[in-house]
Amino acid sequence: MNMPAPKKILITRIIPDVAYNMLSHAGFDVSVWEGDGPMIQSQLIEKANGVNALLSLGADKLDKYFFSQCGHLDIIAQFAVGYDNIDVAEATRVGIPVSNTPDVLSEATADVAFGLMINVSRKMFHQHKSILKGEWKQFEPLKNLGFELRGKTLGVFGMGRIGVAMAKRCRGAYDMNIIYHNRSRNPEAEKLFGAKWVSFDELLNQSDVLSVHSVWSAETTGIFNRTAFAKMKPTSVFINTSRGGVHNELDLIEALKNKTIWGSGLDVTNPEPMLPDNPLLSMPNVAILPHIGSATIEARTGMARVAAENIVEFYKTGKVPTCVNAEVLK
Ligand code: DGY
Repeated sequence: MNMPAPKKILITRIIPDVAYNMLSHAGFDVSVWEGDGPMIQSQLIEKANGVNALLSLGADKLDKYFFSQCGHLDIIAQFAVGYDNIDVAEATRVGIPVSNTPDVLSEATADVAFGLMINVSRKMFHQHKSILKGEWKQFEPLKNLGFELRGKTLGVFGMGRIGVAMAKRCRGAYDMNIIYHNRSRNPEAEKLFGAKWVSFDELLNQSDVLSVHSVWSAETTGIFNRTAFAKMKPTSVFINTSRGGVHNELDLIEALKNKTIWGSGLDVTNPEPMLPDNPLLSMPNVAILPHIGSATIEARTGMARVAAENIVEFYKTGKVPTCVNAEVLK
């Protein structure tokens, strides 16, 4: 009797080995795109046409056109919690389940938001740059002054898993008062640290530090714009570790230049990568990182494991543990 051919899986970048190993041990025929960057869409479509499932990354453009060419795929398992590169409505329309990697990167991403907050409040990136420029001459009683975080108000935009992890840090380290804005209430955050749901405008005008942890969607695109910054305190700090599309970068630059807000820490920019001549990079109260929220060995290994698990489970049981369009499985 002929054995059925093993299902073919394409991993679209080199990621931690655990994914390749789990999929190979489960009997799949696994290939990995070993290029230095993501494939251009035409290459991706060509390669996807030779396989049954994709383990994709955030830079892969899985839009309406992609799905018109690759509707044969059984499943797409994304190596990221965010999936704004995927037209999920279209995937659902053609019957393809899509999964992401929640939880495993929450602590790592919250560490980056927390680190940016401390860095900005004490202008650490700027101080470091000034030493490199030979500007450290003597003790300065009135220069380089930041502000302390103890007892200040943290506003969380998007109180999901990462928002909760950030709030936990801020409460534990500085006894910060936590407010949040979300489409729905988060009883866990309310119980754990008395987080208070507030309207978007209240979030803007009450936060000393406003940290973005929402998804990037049509609803949140550019929501932090000139109008929003104008409602924030002149002493406040804007942190974004979610997606650059949630803030309007030109409006942010203007708000910082005009001292509408005090400072900003970004792990995500708009566009990415940020160009080296971006004015944000030379502002004293600004800290920029190159989208490293999930860049720990633990988080990236966890992401590879969860993405592979979704594929293995799907072919074994028909279930997709972290499916974002579960309606296709019904
Ligand atoms: C995520 O998981 O969404 C991170 O931003 C990495 O893309």
